[in-house]
Order: sequence, then structure tokens, then C-alpha cells
Amino acid sequence: MSEEKKADYKSNFRETQDIVFKVYRFDPDVNTEPHFDTYTVPVVKGWTVLDAIIYIKENMDATLSYRASCRMGICGSCAMEINGKPRLACQTQVIAELKSAEVTVKPLANYPVLRDVVPDLTPLLQHHNDVKPHIIRKDKEDQKNPKGELYQTPDELEEYLQFSYCIKCGACVAACPVVATDENFLGPQALTQAYRYCIDTRDDGFDLRMDVVDDVHGAWRCHFAGACSDACPKGVDPAFAIQLLKREITARKFGKKREPAPIAKQPANVKRREDVPYPPEKTVQ
Ligand code: SF4
Ligand code: FES
Repeated sequence: MSEEKKADYKSNFRETQDIVFKVYRFDPDVNTEPHFDTYTVPVVKGWTVLDAIIYIKENMDATLSYRASCRMGICGSCAMEINGKPRLACQTQVIAELKSAEVTVKPLANYPVLRDVVPDLTPLLQHHNDVKPHIIRKDKEDQKNPKGELYQTPDELEEYLQFSYCIKCGACVAACPVVATDENFLGPQALTQAYRYCIDTRDDGFDLRMDVVDDVHGAWRCHFAGACSDACPKGVDPAFAIQLLKREITARKFGKKREPAPIAKQPANVKRREDVPYPPEKTVQ
């Protein structure tokens, strides 16, 4: 790298801009009402909102609570409301993306607040659990001790692949106007996962999910506002998944049946390679 380029890189790297962060504060042990605290942060070009929050915590106010882990849009922990929209803090560039001298940070809407910008995601996880988000086989013995693989074609994989990118950040639920008025509504995240598993050719559990998805608080409660898809940072498009789920429920009610993928036969005369290790023993029974 030339000296000129080096100097240019250095000056770019150090370029900062003072941005005012208005951060939602609420400590249930101390406060009866939430309030906002204001911090002026020297934001370096390239910083995300999470970088700014970490700066505040380390240099300005150690009492600020936030939740984050991977810092790369994978774990879903850092979702919060930034300038009025649910986003991942670690994927939101302050200068290049928000283009604002003032940034307001709040916890995700539609959840109870544990503290400051940390929401309680228990409702999200409960609804996720309600739709049985795993492959279900009617043959319980086979499910417990599989005797072989369940083949799936690339086209069959394509049917649900996009919906399996969900990182359970909860942004879609925070954006949903129906969740805001009906806390029993399963919500876009859970309904998307219901569809993801129902359409998987290896799954045989549609009937077991029918009770919760074919309900006034299930798929039919969705008004197709589309706010969930707009908020989703992973391109999952929950609004689309819910419409496909409605179509699938209707088709099954009109008698559509689908046999789950059978256990594939082991190819004959194929010996296990001796240098391939066996999987470890199960740690959970
Ligand atoms: S569907 Fe998108 S917004 Fe909703 S929890 Fe999954 S990743 Fe987050
Ligand atoms: S910290 Fe993991 S998604 Fe932001």
C-alpha cells in the first residue's frame, strides 16, 4: 500500500461524526415509568448501532443493558427498535444507513421489557414451540432410532429453504399490527415455521399442527399487512409464508394428502470406509 493510500485509509478510519443517541431506559427494580437518556457518541465511519451502544456502555454509562452475541446477524439477539423500525443493531450502519444526526433506540415493541432495550422474548419462543418446529414422523420408533436417510430432491428443498433462514430475532412480531391487538395470535415467526415444517417432504406432522394454525388466533388472524416481511432482516418473508400456509390448510381440508418421504433403501454392496469415524454417543436420550 502506498504512503498516500495509507494516509487516506487512516483518515477515513478515524473519521467520526457526533450522533445523538436517545436510548430507552427502564429498570423494573428502580423505575416506575420508562424514560430516555441522551448520549452524544463520536461515531466512527462504518460503526453499527451495536458498536455505538457498546461505546456508550464502556465509556459513558455502564448501567445500560442490551443483548447481543454474534455481531454478525446470525444469533438474532440484538434486535431492537431503531428510529421507529425493528432492526438488528449489529447490521444497521449508523452513518451510511440511518443518515440522521439523532438515533432513537427502544426495545422491540409487542414484548414485555426486561430492562432498558432488552425485551422478554418468552411469548415468541412459546408460540414457536406451539407449532412443533421439528420433523415429525408417525413411526415413533423410526423417529427415535432412524434406520436410514430420508431423501429429498433439490426442488423439494427449495420449497422451504427460504423460510428456514429464520434466526428468531422477533423483529417480525414487533412489527406486526395484529400481535399488537391480539396477544394470543401465533404471530408471523411461528406461523412461518409451521409452514416450513408442514411443506418439508420428510415431515408427517401436519395434523398435529392443524389445531393451532387453523384457529382464530392462527393463520386466519393474519390481515396480510406485510409489516413482518418488511422488518425481517433475513429475507424470510413471513407474510408470504402465512398466505401459503392458508392455502395448504384449505387444500388439506379439501382432501389433499401427502405421503411423507419413505426411508431410503441402503445401497447394496457398499461397505463403510474404515477411515470414516462413527458419530459420538447420544448425550440426550
Ligand atoms: S421471520 Fe425474520 S424477523 Fe421474524 S424472527 Fe425470523 S428472522 Fe426474525
Ligand atoms: S448480535 Fe447476533 S444478530 Fe446481532
